[in-house]
Order: sequence, then structure tokens, then C-alpha cells
Amino acid sequence: MSRALQAFISALEQDRALREPSRLRERSDVLERLETWRFCGQPPDAPAVEAGLRDRVEALCAEFEAIDGRLYQGIRQDIPHGAGAHRLLEWVRAADPDRDAEAHARGDSYDHLDALVSGVLQIDEPESPLVGLAAEMVFYQPTPARHIFDMLARSALDQHDVLIDLGSGLGHVPLLASICTGARCIGIEWEAAYVESARRCAQALNLDQVTFVQGDVRAADLSAGTVFYLYTPFEGAMLREVLDMLQAEAARREIRICTLGPCTAAVAQERWLRAAGSWEIHRPAMFRNA
Ligand SMILES: C[S@@+](CC[C@H](N)C(=O)[O-])C[C@H]1O[C@@H](n2cnc3c(N)ncnc32)[C@H](O)[C@@H]1O
Repeated sequence: MSRALQAFISALEQDRALREPSRLRERSDVLERLETWRFCGQPPDAPAVEAGLRDRVEALCAEFEAIDGRLYQGIRQDIPHGAGAHRLLEWVRAADPDRDAEAHARGDSYDHLDALVSGVLQIDEPESPLVGLAAEMVFYQPTPARHIFDMLARSALDQHDVLIDLGSGLGHVPLLASICTGARCIGIEWEAAYVESARRCAQALNLDQVTFVQGDVRAADLSAGTVFYLYTPFEGAMLREVLDMLQAEAARREIRICTLGPCTAAVAQERWLRAAGSWEIHRPAMFRNA
């Protein structure tokens, strides 16, 4: 094991191309592999790696993380000046379609775009304890970044749109939509601590077109929304109740509903909606008034 690791580490130490900022995806793959060795021998029942090798693994991880960190910081500094969309979307355009097709098949897996988004937004950990979810509320899990960018590209939000994320968690979707589009964005979230973290992020990035509302979606005012996003935030009767609210909104104006995950199958049953093309639960699906 050590000889193979030694050869792998030596190759990385000499790979100058990997140090180019543009090789984000490759560094992300390498870091994922190095993580396995980084903690080898800790806890004590895990396979041991010689101390010298572990130090070299550690040094490589620190070096690659520092390169990525500078990249993220540069994008972060451009956001308040309005250049965030351009800086973020160049990474999305650089994505490899073959690999992405494979990633889409893996549904909710995360990749280097999530590391990028996390490094750029730097949403801090919730400071207060969570209140906990009621029955039929689904626990927090962020939408993988590639799906957010896919959804933003397909919905082509502009300054006339208001995107509402129903169950917005730490706020990645409204925050990215606010950076990358001209739309006003709203996140509605039950957990107050998540809302506070999302608000701190918006404030730090000077994003004045995004707001976060703490509360139960069932009691929220949905009248401003033109596009609603649901990453399966609830199920059963709670989902039914919110779909009825959305139907009432759709009776008043054109709306679009974007879904991801198992709730897509329930939304697709609604006769007052029609899907824009074929849908599957592992990719964002788009619906509009029938
Ligand atoms: C699967 S996560 C989605 C998070 C976010 N939309 C995203 O895609 O990154 C579902 C979120 O919905 C929230 N949630 C569940 N039921 C809710 C309700 N009735 N009202 C408001 N938020 C709710 C949960 O706390 C959780 O953060």
C-alpha cells in the first residue's frame, strides 16, 4: 500500500499543471483521494500510514486547498460588484458533459461545483440549536450545485421574476439565483437558525434582492412568486396543502414550478400543471400552468 501511495504522492508533488487555478475539478478529485489517506491510522484501528507519508499527504492537501481558497475568495470579492454571475458561470460552462451525464444519473451526489459554491458563499454554521421538524417535513439537504445551475439556465429568470424556494434550508438556491440572475429571490424556511445563516451570507455579499422568511410554508404569502422551487421539502398531506396553495396562485397568474426529488412524481400528477418536456426525479423538472 505504501509503495503505491508513495508513487502517487511523488507524481502529485511534481505535477505543475495541477497547480493551475483552472484545474479545479482535477484538484477536487485528487483531494477526495487524498482524504482517504489523510486520516489513515486515525482512529487507531484504521490502516496505518507511515508518519513521513502522512506529512506529505497533509502538505499536498494544504497546498491544493490554499489554491482553491484563493480562487473562491477572488469570486467572492467580485460578487458585490455584480461580476459574480460571470465568474461562477464560467465554471459551470467548463463542466464536462460526459461526466455530468454520469453525475446526473447519481442524482443527489455532490462534486467540485458544490465545493466551489461552498467556498464562495461561506455560509456559516447555524449558531442556535435547531427547533426540529414536524411530521411530513423533510430534513435539510442542499440541492447539488449542478442542479441549481441547470435549473437557473432552464428557467431563464429575469428582473420580472420572483423565485420562491419553499423550504430553503441554508439558502443556496435563492443566494445563487440572486447572484446569477436579475430576479428577486425569497427563501421560506422553518428552521430559524438556517434562516439566520442565510441572511448573514446575503448581507456579507451585499445581495439586496434576496430575502429569507422564517416560518411554515403553509402560512406564507406566496402571492409575489412567479417561479417556485421545491427540493422535496415535505410530503403527504403537507405537500398536498402546499400544492393547493400553488394551484390557487396559478388560477390568478402564470407560474412555473421547478421540482427535484420524489416530490416531482406527485407534482406531475397535478392536472392544473403541465411538464415542460419529459421529467425524472433525479434532475430538476419544470412545470407551468396547463
Ligand atoms: C430537502 S431540504 C431543501 C433545502 C433547499 N431548498 C435546497 O434545495 O438547498 C428541505 C428543507 O425544507 C424545510 N422545511 C420542511 N418543511 C417545511 C415547512 N413546512 N415550511 C418551511 N420549511 C420547511 C426543511 O427544514 C429543510 O431545510
